Amino acid sequence: MIDFNNIKNKFPIFKQKIKGKPLIYLDSANSAQKPKIVIDEISRFYETEFSNVGRSVHTLAVKATNKFEETRDIVKSYINAKHREEIIFTKGATDAINLAATAFGEKYINEGDEIILTELEHHSNYVPWHYLRNKRGAIIKFASINENGEIDVDEFKKIITEKTKIIAFTHISNVTGTILPVKKIIDLAKSKNIPVLIDGTQSAQHIGLDVQDLGCDFYAISCHKMYGPNGLGILYAKKKWADELPPYQGGGGMISEVKKDEITYADSPTKFEAGTMQTAEVVAFAKSIQFIQDLGIKNIEEHESQVLEYGLEKLRKNNSVNIIGNPSKRASIMSFTIKGIHPHDIATILDDDGVAIRAGHHCCQILHDKLKIPASARASIGVYNNKDDIDVLCESINKCKKVFNI
Ligand SMILES: Cc1ncc(COP(=O)(O)O)c(C=O)c1O
Repeated sequence: MIDFNNIKNKFPIFKQKIKGKPLIYLDSANSAQKPKIVIDEISRFYETEFSNVGRSVHTLAVKATNKFEETRDIVKSYINAKHREEIIFTKGATDAINLAATAFGEKYINEGDEIILTELEHHSNYVPWHYLRNKRGAIIKFASINENGEIDVDEFKKIITEKTKIIAFTHISNVTGTILPVKKIIDLAKSKNIPVLIDGTQSAQHIGLDVQDLGCDFYAISCHKMYGPNGLGILYAKKKWADELPPYQGGGGMISEVKKDEITYADSPTKFEAGTMQTAEVVAFAKSIQFIQDLGIKNIEEHESQVLEYGLEKLRKNNSVNIIGNPSKRASIMSFTIKGIHPHDIATILDDDGVAIRAGHHCCQILHDKLKIPASARASIGVYNNKDDIDVLCESINKCKKVFNI
């Protein structure tokens, strides 16, 4: 049995106090804290193995390159991809989606072609498609949410046409925590031969992943939300696309041959990894996956859903708190508003109690516009959170209400 109550001991950051109080970190949807094994691996790599990868032939370079490529294999098996060429390292999920949208758009999107997104999308899964709308004259359509913050597969059926070139949507909403019916949407898209990109930024750390079973064409992952180093993401691109798509950025390392009048490119993933890559970050990310696997993704899912249910129940009992969305399938995220208190004030007052949450539109202005609110407060759960953390959150919310006489 995993004792989730002791997980904080594995994260050095929890040793400190914030304003004299224990740190209650409820901002993992923004970025997760890093366990010691990941931090130690970064130091170990710099102290003993560091070199650039994929270039020199000296001992350190070969060691570093092997370690770097080992992580690719670990990621491949973690998400059950079929080929290692399908795993492309990027700067983050934003970079992964930009890569897919730009490369796919260049080859397959023309004037009048349609791209389907949803009203739940993070700006990272909207702005790159908006660029294509501007540059190529594409049309963007949005699948609508219902009053619970869910999106039914029928919403996609309503807006798919013979001009639909790609469907891109989030696996789990970073505001409502809604788990979308991913498989059903992919099956629908497949029946019409439409490729699908999933923004998996909020899912890979919470639920088990199997890209072959899902049948998606692209899957974007954010490593810093998976207890991994910052500045690192992954794009899974099914082999067909990894082979077919043109490079995204040009530079060293991604070419096959360069002449004055002609350039040929390397195969995937090298073709998409221009310039010096994040070496220590990639190497240390193997330890993040090990950390998740040691806990067991099923155990994580179960633990986090217990903490989430406890949190939702407590917040629902507080009459002043309005929880955003009421999806039947939800993961790790509770966004809320309190009438009469701006979310930034909530976050500032909670910080006095050592409680770290996020306030704002969470890069989801389309969703907030639809809900007719400018901003919300968001408490998001990671492996280190427990029911005691939720108790502190709720006490602090009450204190906040007192300050504002609510
Ligand atoms: C749903 C969603 N997509 C994309 C992103 C961007 O991820 P990254 O920070 O890795 O670029 C975020 C980050 O908050 C997110 O929540």
